[in-house]
Amino acid sequence: MIVTIERPTPFDRSVQWKLHHAYWAQRGVDAWKSGEVPHLSTSNYPTARQHAQLFRAVVADLRARGSLAEADTVWLLEGGCGNGKLAANFMHALELMDAPLAERTRYVISDYSDHNLDQVVALPHVAHWIERGLMIPARYDMADPQRVRLRGGGALTHALAFFMSSYVSCVLPMKHLQRRADGTWHELLVEVRADSDDPDLTADAFVAGLVADAARYNLLNDLELHFSWGEVDLDALFAHPSHAAIVRSIVADAAEATVGYPYGFFDFLRELQPLMLDGGVVLTNDYGSVGRERIEGRFERRPQVYGNSLAQDINFTVYDGLPPVLGWEVLRSTSELDSVHAAAVCAGGFGPAARAFFDTHYLRRRPADDLLDYVAAARAYLTKKEYARALRFFLRCVELDPYDPELRYRAGSAALDASLYAVAIEQLQRGHALDAQRGWDFDFQLGRAYCLAGDHDAALDWYRRSHARGEHPVTLTNMGVLHAYHGRHATAHACYTRALALDPHYERAHERLQSLKDLVWEAAVAGFADAPVLPKGTAPVAPAP
Ligand SMILES: C[S@@+](CC[C@H](N)C(=O)[O-])C[C@H]1O[C@@H](n2cnc3c(N)ncnc32)[C@H](O)[C@@H]1O
Repeated sequence: MIVTIERPTPFDRSVQWKLHHAYWAQRGVDAWKSGEVPHLSTSNYPTARQHAQLFRAVVADLRARGSLAEADTVWLLEGGCGNGKLAANFMHALELMDAPLAERTRYVISDYSDHNLDQVVALPHVAHWIERGLMIPARYDMADPQRVRLRGGGALTHALAFFMSSYVSCVLPMKHLQRRADGTWHELLVEVRADSDDPDLTADAFVAGLVADAARYNLLNDLELHFSWGEVDLDALFAHPSHAAIVRSIVADAAEATVGYPYGFFDFLRELQPLMLDGGVVLTNDYGSVGRERIEGRFERRPQVYGNSLAQDINFTVYDGLPPVLGWEVLRSTSELDSVHAAAVCAGGFGPAARAFFDTHYLRRRPADDLLDYVAAARAYLTKKEYARALRFFLRCVELDPYDPELRYRAGSAALDASLYAVAIEQLQRGHALDAQRGWDFDFQLGRAYCLAGDHDAALDWYRRSHARGEHPVTLTNMGVLHAYHGRHATAHACYTRALALDPHYERAHERLQSLKDLVWEAAVAGFADAPVLPKGTAPVAPAP
């Protein structure tokens, strides 16, 4: 039975957002671990390094402007920190680039989800910076921009030099608007229906059920959505009077246009200003498009679903509406090819260092995309079994992000497949040292690498460490092979029989056990060939009659 959960409602007020907020409140860092929510392009090391370089340029401009003195601490806030990777990579890059500035920086890492923040601060890559006092966790809802609640208690005491967020403007309230040739304005409405066996089900009870268990797989996709457009009065649509003027400025003279207008993020930008230093900069990174032709005409707009969260692509021409109406300066990326687009906003106007850096780096091909492309190329070559080529691409990735254990693991594994054992050992050893969370079984791969390189003692040592993580028939069999090779037959036997106890169908352990039996048998019967059928001294026996 199809039940109507919500009658046609403006998309930004849809009941789906209740589930979206409950998802973020309940899911925590598993959202990123499970791969439900993409984050690599916004949070990888090359992108964090680029933001750290921009931050450094902004600090130079603030000093030149007199907003900061040489020895001042410099405060930076990140909103919607996700799994904390961007924060950790940013501080790491800043420290390598300018250690004194890193020491003076206070990076406020924030999220509106307490649960997420609790988990993020415990992750080793974040805890390291918190222990050093350079990173400060805070609960921060960008829908309530002036209230930064530091986790240790208290509020923000210093004005901000820099604010940064990635993939967050796309989850703040947005209205999807359409201007038609007759001059009328329309907004996207959504009607929500669901399939239920319960004839007495009320919409409220249905929604309460979803919200109570918001991290459950694929809930949003179970809803039936019907979209339509409803006519609106643009001048009466928003609480703040600037929005109608900004929308008109974005659409300009396009006869017909369809645009996702991120009023939630623009309200945030306006209300954040009292917390910023004069000349302070807001940097936002998001997915979407940059070309004006992408808002011209009438077309459908639909949200994307990640886990049970909603996201809406941003056409970055919306930022072009801010300077004429609010007088702010905006720098934004202009290449449709970038996987993530950036906009930097400075209400008081940028200084020369930040403007020059943005023009030369953000407007060119971004190194974050190189990393994604090289990973994709390496994977493609792996599937074609072109291991040396795959390895070359993984090594380029490692150059771009030397601190990611996963890239080292992949490079080391490709080097093993390419029979380049010294390269494998180097990559795997370095990855092992970086993998504080022990997320990758470097121990096993190092066992393989040392074994193939002929160092059996080292190989056994690494296999034992892998075994200590958890028993596995392959590790046990590999250990058995080495013990058998060195004549420790009883230990080899124990390894194979344990492997078969774990997986009775593991063919290789069966084969190895059989070889061991053959070997032991051959050793036991060596010399038997010379033995007479009748041992010496046996008394002759008369043939049977
Ligand atoms: C799509 S994720 C992006 C995470 C991370 N920045 C990245 O690039 O991978 C959205 C993040 O913003 C947080 N978030 C959502 N709405 C928010 C709001 N109103 N204020 C602050 N954080 C919010 C979520 O909890 C989540 O961590």
